[in-house]
Amino acid sequence: MSLLRVEHMTHYFGGLQAVSDYALELEPGQIKGLIGPNGAGKTTIFNLITGIHTPSEGHVYLDGQEITGLRPHRIAAQGLGRTFQNLALWRHMTVLEHVKMAHYSRIDYGLVGAFLGSRRRRVQEQEFTERSRELLRMLDIESHAEQLVVNLPYGVQRRVEMARALATDPKVLLLDEPTVGMTAEELRQMIEVIHLVHQRLGLAVFIIEHRLRFVMELCQEVQTLVFGRVVAQGEPEEILNHPKVIEAYLGEDWED
Ligand SMILES: Nc1ncnc2c1ncn2[C@@H]1O[C@H](COP(=O)(O)OP(=O)(O)OP(=O)(O)O)[C@@H](O)[C@H]1O
Ligand SMILES: [Mg+2]
Repeated sequence: MSLLRVEHMTHYFGGLQAVSDYALELEPGQIKGLIGPNGAGKTTIFNLITGIHTPSEGHVYLDGQEITGLRPHRIAAQGLGRTFQNLALWRHMTVLEHVKMAHYSRIDYGLVGAFLGSRRRRVQEQEFTERSRELLRMLDIESHAEQLVVNLPYGVQRRVEMARALATDPKVLLLDEPTVGMTAEELRQMIEVIHLVHQRLGLAVFIIEHRLRFVMELCQEVQTLVFGRVVAQGEPEEILNHPKVIEAYLGEDWED
């Protein structure tokens, strides 16, 4: 079975069918893209996979285990990391604190945690700091470790969010429009960062994206979603010339 597999997933918001009979197979180490016009249902698909919404119909499997309908933190703990379309960062925390928080969130302390010895807690704290710094180094933002997120350029904030997603040690990383609002230079850096993360950590990556250049450079396969339905999927070249894709994007500025 694929690392991430979605079968016959359909979702309704009231009377609106936001996603229709959606399927996905993501293999270990693969980078796939999901494109489609505004409101097509792309973010909803991420929210259904990551447990923010429970699909009206269908099944999601991660590494052979069914995760349909589990709570988001349980799904994250099973190896699914994600970033959000609108940055979801705490503006008044430092970069390092953000990534460390994510490490902590993996541990269900509960009552036992309350009685954890202080020495053990210190050792763990040290370990989280080291692992967080390692991630920041990999994403080339270690020099910002002690800075407040609110003061950083947008492109760096995006990488902080990615570092936070990686801190949960995912097998699969879902990125929701990681380049929205970025300058050309930030875009270039983001492509490099994703390449690097993909190579070093051997992750499977699933990316929602508007910018074609980005999709072309990174993805081995692309799905096109229109009104909640996949109308075309295949290699990027194939997709760009697909009549249904051209029709769906008619009048839209792809490079936005
Ligand atoms: N929580 C919700 N409740 C009701 N309707 C919703 C909810 N979330 C999304 N929708 C609707 O579902 C449809 C798909 O929205 P979604 O955000 O998934 O689109 P998208 O492809 O990510 O668009 P964009 O490119 O603008 O980010 C839209 O019609 C949207 O209004
Ligand atoms: Mg969206």
